[in-house]
Amino acid sequence: MKNILFLQCSPHGETSLGTQVAREVIERLRDAYPGVSVVVRDLAAEPLAPIAGDYAMAITGSRAFDDPAFSCSETLIAELERCDFLLVGTPMHNFTVPAALKLWIDYVLRIGRTFAGTPEGKVGLLKDRPALVLVRSGGVCTGPFARQPDFLTPYLRHALATIGIADTDFHYLEGVAPDAGQLAAFRRSVAASRALRSFHGESV
Ligand SMILES: Cc1cc2nc3c(=O)[nH]c(=O)nc-3n(C[C@H](O)[C@H](O)[C@H](O)COP(=O)(O)O)c2cc1C
Repeated sequence: MKNILFLQCSPHGETSLGTQVAREVIERLRDAYPGVSVVVRDLAAEPLAPIAGDYAMAITGSRAFDDPAFSCSETLIAELERCDFLLVGTPMHNFTVPAALKLWIDYVLRIGRTFAGTPEGKVGLLKDRPALVLVRSGGVCTGPFARQPDFLTPYLRHALATIGIADTDFHYLEGVAPDAGQLAAFRRSVAASRALRSFHGESV
C-alpha cells in the first residue's frame, strides 16, 4: 500500500490556495491508488512545541531513540520514514519557510538518527523518495521579475537532502491574488511534476 505524508504549513487553512491544490493532488492520488494511506500533519493548526532544553541536550548526547526527550521527534520521523511520497504545502514567510515548518525540520533533522556526521559532512540516513513542494508567496519570488530573495527553496531543498530526500520538486503560485490563468498554469505544472511522475514509476 502506498503512503503519503502531507505537511500543511499555511495558517490560512482551507482558504489557502496552496492547500486547495495540495488537496486536489491527494484526491487524484486516492483515485489512482485506492486504499492509499494519507497522513496529514497540519503544522499550522496544530503547531509543534518549541524546541526545549531537554531535546536540545538529548540530540547532542548519546540517549536511546526511545528516550522521552525524542518522543515528538520520533513520531515525526516515523511518519516520514513510512511515506512513499512527501507533499509539502507551504507559504513563503519572510523569504523562507514559515516557523511552523522550521520546527518540523528541527525535530526531523537529527544527528545519528536521520543523518550521520562524517568528516566529509552530513550524510542522509533515510531512503530517497519523491517530494513535491507547493510554494505560495504574496510577491514574486522566482524569475526575472522577482524583487525579493528566495531562501525557502535552497534551504528546504538542502534540509531534505541532508536526511537523504534528494528528489525534491518545487512549484510556485506567486502573487497576492493569482488570476484564473495563473491558477490553471500552477495546476498544470503540479499535475505534470517530476515528483508525481516519479511516484507513478514513470521515467523522469
Ligand atoms: C508572516 C508572513 C510573512 C510573509 N512573508 C512573505 C515574503 O517574504 N514574501 C512573499 O512573497 N510573501 C510573504 N507573505 C505572504 C504569503 O506568502 C502569502 O500571503 C501567501 O499567499 C500565503 O499563502 P497561503 O494562503 O497558502 O498561506 C508573508 C505572509 C505572512 C503572514
